[in-house]
This record gives sequence, structure tokens and C-alpha cells, in this order.
Amino acid sequence: MCGIIGIVTGHTVVTGLISSLKLLEYRGYDSAGIATMQDGQVWRERAAGKLANLEKKIKDDGVREGGIGIGHTRWATHGAPTEGNAHPHIVDNVIIVHNGIIENYAELRDELLENGANMQSETDTEVIGHLISQQLKIDKNIETAVQTAIGKLTGAFALAIMIKGEENLLIGARKGCPLVVGIGDVEGHYIGSDALALSPFSRQIIYLEEGDFVFASKEDYRIFDQAGTLVTRDINHVEVQSATMDKGNHKHYMAKEFFEQPDVVQHTLAHYLNMDDNQINIDANLDIKKFDRIIIVSCGTSYYAASVAKYWLEEATNMSVEVDVASEYRYRNPPLNAKCLFIVVSQSGETADSLAALRLAKHKGATTVAIVNVSTSTMSREADFVLPTFAGIEVCVASTKAFMCQISVLATLSIALGKAIGHINADQATTMASDLAQLPRLINDAFMVEPEIKELAHDISKVEHMLFLGRNTSFPIAMEGALKLKEITYIHAEGYAAGELKHGPIALIDEKMPLIIIAPDNEVYEKTRSNIEEIAARGGDITVLTTQKRAKEIRKLGLKAIALPDCSSFLAPFIYTVPVQLLAYHTAVHMGTDVDQPRNLAKSVTVE
Ligand code: AGP
Repeated sequence: MCGIIGIVTGHTVVTGLISSLKLLEYRGYDSAGIATMQDGQVWRERAAGKLANLEKKIKDDGVREGGIGIGHTRWATHGAPTEGNAHPHIVDNVIIVHNGIIENYAELRDELLENGANMQSETDTEVIGHLISQQLKIDKNIETAVQTAIGKLTGAFALAIMIKGEENLLIGARKGCPLVVGIGDVEGHYIGSDALALSPFSRQIIYLEEGDFVFASKEDYRIFDQAGTLVTRDINHVEVQSATMDKGNHKHYMAKEFFEQPDVVQHTLAHYLNMDDNQINIDANLDIKKFDRIIIVSCGTSYYAASVAKYWLEEATNMSVEVDVASEYRYRNPPLNAKCLFIVVSQSGETADSLAALRLAKHKGATTVAIVNVSTSTMSREADFVLPTFAGIEVCVASTKAFMCQISVLATLSIALGKAIGHINADQATTMASDLAQLPRLINDAFMVEPEIKELAHDISKVEHMLFLGRNTSFPIAMEGALKLKEITYIHAEGYAAGELKHGPIALIDEKMPLIIIAPDNEVYEKTRSNIEEIAARGGDITVLTTQKRAKEIRKLGLKAIALPDCSSFLAPFIYTVPVQLLAYHTAVHMGTDVDQPRNLAKSVTVE
């Protein structure tokens, strides 16, 4: 994902900008740039490719120092990774860098073009510059003008902004993407994508909250919340060495990684989905027509990601899709041949059973694909093709952001293979892809259920057993929710297909059995609704996860319902994973278990 740095100290910022950008390289990028201001002049240098290209340009063109500057490493989403699309972008007096995706940029861009705006790039970022520039012409108060302009944006973003002529004012804003403020150890103030980027200059880190704006000078800073109210935020002392494994302002890595999900999903999607024309580009040169079936094998949470993909791939390709846990698959002597497309899903890329299954598939002549989060892992080296997830380092044993990125990749793969085999047409593929582009915002919006989940967690922390139910793609999410709860709270929980209840588990139902029923308003909602009523008739302690509209109906039955943002059936697995992850986390916090390193568990099971 993109990386942002901003510095206001009153002198020589170029070296600091470059050193920060080097600390941001781990996020992945394909172009970079910096800009400074001095004596009323703006100086900008940008380069496609690695930072070395930018440094060479700066050296060749001659450094123009400044007391304020911003820098950016860009991972292309809108527009090719060219120098012209590299940040910072300059629009009139506005100099801006951006991490994220502006979802409504197309209509904003069209409106600006109709009003005679002259667009220099293909990026959504430039649109933000125009909005701010226009607002500054109406409102001379920079703080309100910037907040008004940015209030028009839909999507996920982190921004650093300078205004020409304002050489002691560095502006930042965040929504859905992380942004931190650093108070200089020696002097000045800093803005960056994470504490690591600021670690050369600051150990006093402020983690901006959702919707916050910051206006910083070399002497001071002011933070406004999304309502425009001046607020104070905690100052956290972050030592340099821990900055690399920084929990942010979270108590646990699980919370940090949970809230990184909009950003890392955006970063992962950007690798496969061209946000300009909603076309999917899968790196792997897979001739889907030579296969007669698809097999997906993995373990644990990764198996539940694979189980969600089964529904998507069958629907999109009309092919037979088999999904299995690696520990069973590898010892079954399964029928495999050159007509099999074999996919292994693994966060670590090292899980012993999954690796053994991959080797078995290769040995029997199948074409193999690894969907992994660790690009240097054994599976990524041994599979014929690799489709990386870009979740970043996942420290918590309980997987959250990696799972979301796994189903992001599987969703794009389903669209690509469905279109390639001709079972879905170009329009259907484009519609599904444009659906996916909304994910960072929708996942971020789903976080709004946290207060209700926290309350529910208080009750769940007292129980010994629990059921999670769902149908269609909500069934694997029910199993994932049960696994999350089990592995970090040690409460016994089971995920079940809601339609299976009558075949035995309904015998468990009484007022002492809490159930989470995942019920997006989709083609099987009415069937799930029947299950809800069967359970309610037997006194089950039900909480339904559903839409606003359906929640009102459920509450009329005297049952608990938690409303999630409206979304398509295709996106429901992503959105309904958020509450079950949160429930496990807040229940564990109530119980005081070791959230990040639960008993008996390892992050990567490299032994059988
Ligand atoms: C997930 O929360 C668990 N930590 C575990 O089930 C994990 O998903 C499983 O061990 C597979 O690991 P992998 O994705 O690295 O292969």
C-alpha cells in the first residue's frame, strides 16, 4: 500500500523525507516523489520505479531544500505507475499525497472537468487537490476549507497536504487508512503512515482517529475530529526498535491488524483490480479451459477462506470445485491429474499439511497455485503460480487481515476464471469487480458495530458453549467465527450450516445456548429466517447479524439483531466477518486471555 511522510521543521527536510520513504518501502510501491516549499516556491521531484530513481533525479536536478515537505511511495490503483501519476500532485496552490481509494472520484472528476478543470494525471488524488483548491477560493479559512473539501470524498484515504505560501502549515487527514502525527524529539512536527516512518525523528506518536484532521506547524498542532471539533489525542511513547513491530494505539496486535483491514484489502485488490476500468488482471497465466475441476486445500482459517471461494468459483465458472483440509487430503491418495487446477491457501506459506498437499498435487501433474501472504515462503517457491496477498506482517496468531486478503484474492480469481471460461460475460465481471472496489469503505463502515459487539461480548464471556450458524457463503463465516472465538477465548464454539440444525444440533438448543446467526439479506435469507424462528421457539439465546431493514423485523420478534452496512451477496462474507472477529476479540479481552499468543497455538504449524 502507499506510504506517506510530511515534515515541518523550518529547515532542511529533504534528507528526512527520503529516509522516511525508505522506511516505508516495505509497504510495496512502484513510484515515489517529494515536494518542498521555500521562499514562496514549490519544488517537486518524482520518479517511476524504486527510490533510487528518485534519489538520482534529485541529485541530477539539484536539491532545493525547504522547511516543509511531503513525500510518497505510490502503489498504483488509479493510473499506471508513471512519473506523471506519481505523488505529490500539485493543483494550483495545493500540493498533496494520498494513500487509499476515492470511490466517488469518477463523478467528482466529471464534475470538475465540466467546470473546466485541467486534469494533469489519471489519479483520484488529483481530484482531491482540485476540490481543496476550489474550496480555498470560497473559504479563506484553510482549516474549514480543507475539512469541507475532504468531506465530499467517499472511500478510504490518508492525506498529507501543503498549501503554497503557507510554509509553516502541514495538513493531514485520515479515513479508513492509518495516519500518525509525530512530535519531533528535537523540533517540528511530522505526519506519516505509521510510527516506523517517523522513527528517525520522533518517539512521541499520536494515532489519528477515524475522520481526524491535523494542522501542524513547526511549533504546534491542532487536531479536529470528523465533526470539526477541536480535540486532543493521546501522545504515545514509541521506542524506535518497537516501531518496526508497532501496535499503534492498540492494546493487542489483533486489534491493530483488525483495523488495518480496509487498507490491506485495498492494497491487495490494487494488485489485481484496475480501479479505472474495473478490469481484473491475474498475474498467473492460467488456461482455465484445460482444466475440468478446481481443488482448493488449506487449514484452519485459510480453509474457511477456501470454503467461501467454493461458492464463488462454482457460480462464476460452472466447474466442479472441491475444498478440503490439507491434513485429510494429503493422506487420501486423491485422484489428481493434469486436468486439475490445484490451489493452496496459506498465510504463512509454510503449513506442513498444506505444503505436503501442494507437493502431492505437483507430483500427480496438477497445475498448482499458491495464495500466500509471505512471498519468500516455501509454498510460494514451489507452486507453479503465486497469487500474493498484501496483508503485511500478521503477528497475532489468530488470523484476521490475512483472511480478508485471502478472500479478496479468491474473489478476483473467481471473476477472472469465470470470464476466461466464458461463464460470466464482460459486463457481469465488471459489475463484480466494481463491487469489490467498495470493500475498503464497507469494511470500514462495518466497524461501526463495535459498541454493540462489545456489549454482547460481555455476556458471551460467561458462557461455555456457543453456536454460529449461516447458509451459503455465510456458512464458512460461521465456522470462521467459531474458530476465532475458540482459539482466543477457549470457549467451545461450533459453526454449522443453518439448514443442518434439524439434523441433530437443534437438540442443543435451550436458553443457555447462545447463537450467532449470520443472515445477510440474500437469496437464502428467508430460509435462515425459518431457522431463526425454529430456534426462538425453543428458547435459544439468538443474536442475528443482518441488514438494517431485516434487523427491525428480527427485533420485533423480541430477538437481538446487529445491523451491518448493506452490501451485495458477493461482498457479504467480507462484511459479516467483521462482527465475528470483533466478538472473539472483545470476549477474549473481557476474559483476560492472551489475545495475541493464545495457549497451545503457533502462528505457523510447520509440523504435522
Ligand atoms: C487462524 O486464526 C489460525 N491461526 C489457524 O487456523 C491458521 O489459519 C492455520 O494454521 C493455517 O495457517 P496458514 O494460513 O499459515 O497456512
